[in-house]
Amino acid sequence: MFDDLLKRLGLGPVESGACHERWIEDPGGEEIESFNPADGKSLGRVKLANGAVYDEVVGRAVEAFAGWRMTPGPHRGEVVRKIGEALRERKADLGMLITLETGKIRSEGEGEVQEMIDMADFSVGLSRQLYGLTIASERPRHRMMEQWHPLGPIGVITAFNFPAAVWAWNAMVAAVCGDTVVWKPSPLAPLTAIAVQKIVAKVAEEEGFPGVFNLCLGSIEDVGEPMLNDRRLPLISATGSCRLGYHVAEVVGRRLGRTILELGGNNAVIVAPSADLDLAIRGIAFAAVGTAGQRCTTARRLIVHESLYEAVVDRLARAYRTLPIGNPWDDGVLVGPLIHEQAVEAMTDALRRATEQGGEVVVGGKRLDRPGCFVEPALVRAKPGMAIVGEETFAPILYAIPYRTLDEAIAIQNEVEQGLTSAIFTRDLLEAERFLSPEGSDCGIANVNIGTSGAEIGGAFGGEKATGGGREAGSDSWKAYMRRQTCTINYGRQLPLAQGVRFDVG
Ligand code: UN1
Repeated sequence: MFDDLLKRLGLGPVESGACHERWIEDPGGEEIESFNPADGKSLGRVKLANGAVYDEVVGRAVEAFAGWRMTPGPHRGEVVRKIGEALRERKADLGMLITLETGKIRSEGEGEVQEMIDMADFSVGLSRQLYGLTIASERPRHRMMEQWHPLGPIGVITAFNFPAAVWAWNAMVAAVCGDTVVWKPSPLAPLTAIAVQKIVAKVAEEEGFPGVFNLCLGSIEDVGEPMLNDRRLPLISATGSCRLGYHVAEVVGRRLGRTILELGGNNAVIVAPSADLDLAIRGIAFAAVGTAGQRCTTARRLIVHESLYEAVVDRLARAYRTLPIGNPWDDGVLVGPLIHEQAVEAMTDALRRATEQGGEVVVGGKRLDRPGCFVEPALVRAKPGMAIVGEETFAPILYAIPYRTLDEAIAIQNEVEQGLTSAIFTRDLLEAERFLSPEGSDCGIANVNIGTSGAEIGGAFGGEKATGGGREAGSDSWKAYMRRQTCTINYGRQLPLAQGVRFDVG
């Protein structure tokens, strides 16, 4: 049914998962299959890279870096601009492939491609703005400045849920910064990565820069671990679970490499007494059930003032009962499938534990009687102190918890291990500002009167605590992809030393 789409994106029944300046026809590893989570049918097969091919890909990325780093930034930006153009042309098809491989609905699939395009545009501008500072020197006839140099080939490890956008957050910025990129995508969405690589590698080659963007799909043993240990990759940017992040930080840290970690979230929405409830219900619903609860920014906890608790739970329950669940490519559907059977099991298990710990499932939680991994999003009345509420289950479960004072709400919001995103619905200026103050939300992202998910690329994206502390995409995130050099230039004929130190010889 989707054969034409795959053909238009240049995808055959068996694809190679490894590409540097050219595609490696037989990358030597096992073959994996990509499944459509909505019907369980195969979308195609992919040959993984083995250890030797991984080594070759990184070797080429190192070679390409030598030329790329000396290419003027605005020229690098021009290559990225053309990538943005190519993505614009393929937006509908690529968006649909994302929908087929991940189960996210069409507007979200296309939205993800839009996010890539936005990143390309942002990075084009950035390519002329990699500014350093000049600094006043304390010594006569001395000048100080800071400049930013390309860092090297960057390792990018991405997850299934944003199989293309998160690569773009990293790769578009890294490329204008003069870095080359080695991408290890999730084996759960390999075709999206291959389709992106085909689009991007073609532009890079036409522009005379093959080898800037590289792909290496492979197992943890052959590709994942070697990447973490590889001193040729000065920076590893990894998206995934907190468990993954602890491991990445440890292994990369052992060689004093840099990391950008974007890990789990256990995001909360606070609904304060003055909240506009119409807005709040819509904001919460998108944040909690959008992408079937499989965003790291998904709202997992709802902290509601006790005076509104019953009303909010009732209204949300009503909204949950009418949620259109179905094939993610069908018009009008808002909730697609979970990624695989294990995700369904994890959800069922979390709901069982929630009930055992004193929670009450108000609505949802059942698996749909049809092929594919479909579940009804669940809304759970929770009590303070339930252990399960502290865990991130990558599925649509929202725990509703009542609160009395804003202090208490903020304390509940901040008591989890992770610190990615947070939101408050309030029309009280004092409450909103309090939430955004140093004694408010401890997350990397804090929103007022919008939900926890769906961030724009212009801001720096990432979170604190067990979320890993990394920042990607907009603002000054680019600095992590470059090395800073402090330069002091003496244009006089004396050699005064800093801090008045005297050291006269000869
Ligand atoms: C993720 O789930 O890994 O803010 C990233 C958002 C998206 C990114 C989510 N722009 O929800």
